[in-house]
Amino acid sequence: MRLLTGITTSGTPHLGNYVGAIRPAVAASRHADVDAFYFMADYHALIKISDAERIERSRLEIAATWLAAGLDPGRVTFYRQSDIPEIPQLTWFLTCIASKGMLNRAHAYKAAVERNLQQSEEADAGITAGLYMYPVLMAADILAFDANQVPVGRDQVQHIEMARDLAQRFNHQHGQEFFVLPEALIEEQVATLPGLDGRKMSKSYDNTIPLFAGGAKATREAVMRIVTDSRLPGEAKDADASALFTIYRAFADEAETAAFRQALHDGLGWGEAKQALVARIEADLAPLRERYAAFMADPGAIEDILQRGAQRARAVATPKIAALREALGLRAGVTHKVTARPAVPLPQRKPPRLASFRDTDGRFRFRLFSAQGDELLLSVGFADPKAAGAAQRRLRTAGNGAAVTPNSALGLALELDGELVGSTPDFPDVASRDQALAALRSALEELAAGD
Ligand code: TRP
Repeated sequence: MRLLTGITTSGTPHLGNYVGAIRPAVAASRHADVDAFYFMADYHALIKISDAERIERSRLEIAATWLAAGLDPGRVTFYRQSDIPEIPQLTWFLTCIASKGMLNRAHAYKAAVERNLQQSEEADAGITAGLYMYPVLMAADILAFDANQVPVGRDQVQHIEMARDLAQRFNHQHGQEFFVLPEALIEEQVATLPGLDGRKMSKSYDNTIPLFAGGAKATREAVMRIVTDSRLPGEAKDADASALFTIYRAFADEAETAAFRQALHDGLGWGEAKQALVARIEADLAPLRERYAAFMADPGAIEDILQRGAQRARAVATPKIAALREALGLRAGVTHKVTARPAVPLPQRKPPRLASFRDTDGRFRFRLFSAQGDELLLSVGFADPKAAGAAQRRLRTAGNGAAVTPNSALGLALELDGELVGSTPDFPDVASRDQALAALRSALEELAAGD
């Protein structure tokens, strides 16, 4: 079972990313029957970010984060989207079958149009084709590797549906199961982590708790800013209405969670509750932080891992794309295939023909026939066959050197070196004689060229 997911490299991972995506994905990659492909979607990042330095920094931080979180590059094929040239190739193949109407319905694009309309702008104002094509690039990410399952957040489910749709269309069009139909995998148990203000933790709400950035100090400071209600120490608190409790539960086991719920109910102060949360988070994250720091200090080691990952990923994608190119009629112009193809037979041109015979008077003669079998010339009579043969040989090589002239008003005579070799009967008119003259000349040329 191939599990594949991409991580857009447009930010610095926060605690919500860890709990919602990184931790479950790393755990899933450890199952014996799972062949995991995890990659950094840096082409997708270009849709949002044009700052090269931010793209690079994010890529490094995200790679270091996943590795620190326990991703084993020996088991998982871990790579960078932009190291796989087959992905943009497949993107174009899929673009050519993607219906524009389907892309019009993509949530991200629709939301951008909606915002424009609300601000009385033109529907597509400021919207790039990159945003519009986002789902097709994502489909290529998935379909290039025959992924069966794609763990994603709910906001991405529509994209997986589109990838399925494109896969189906392609398979149908080419009458072959080129692509595996992928399925979205949504981990029901994985809670979306609330942020400092209780809404979903998200960079766009500016309510995140950092994962590794800024070290333990930054995490602690953020936890201290979690919004709580105004209940004082000693008052009973409703754990389930508290973002702080939800975050705690994301790190704690059942017994710890039950104990924490009870403590809040029994009047634990919010200040102490925050200290408990910091301690619980740190128990998990402290060892990861060290690994993270080590990777961040050694970008070369990360690069090696990613290059090896790209090699493994391409071992899957390269033959796949080659097969697609064949199916699409895009094989190279001068491959062995083309030269090996049986040559299309040219229409066979029969050459003009000379035929010898012995006449009733005992003399040796020959006739010249056109390729079509029309008689063009009758030779003079030769006393012996050798002379007739010699005349034929000279005729074969004469070409333009043979003088063909009208011998009478409407007949033709052919001379070689001043000697009459053959003639035609009279034609009914000048036009047919001239036609015969042209035919005779071209037959002589063909004979000469063929020799
Ligand atoms: N669009 C995904 C996100 O923002 C990232 C992504 C890119 C992805 N390509 C993918 C996820 C392929 C799964 C499969 O979360």
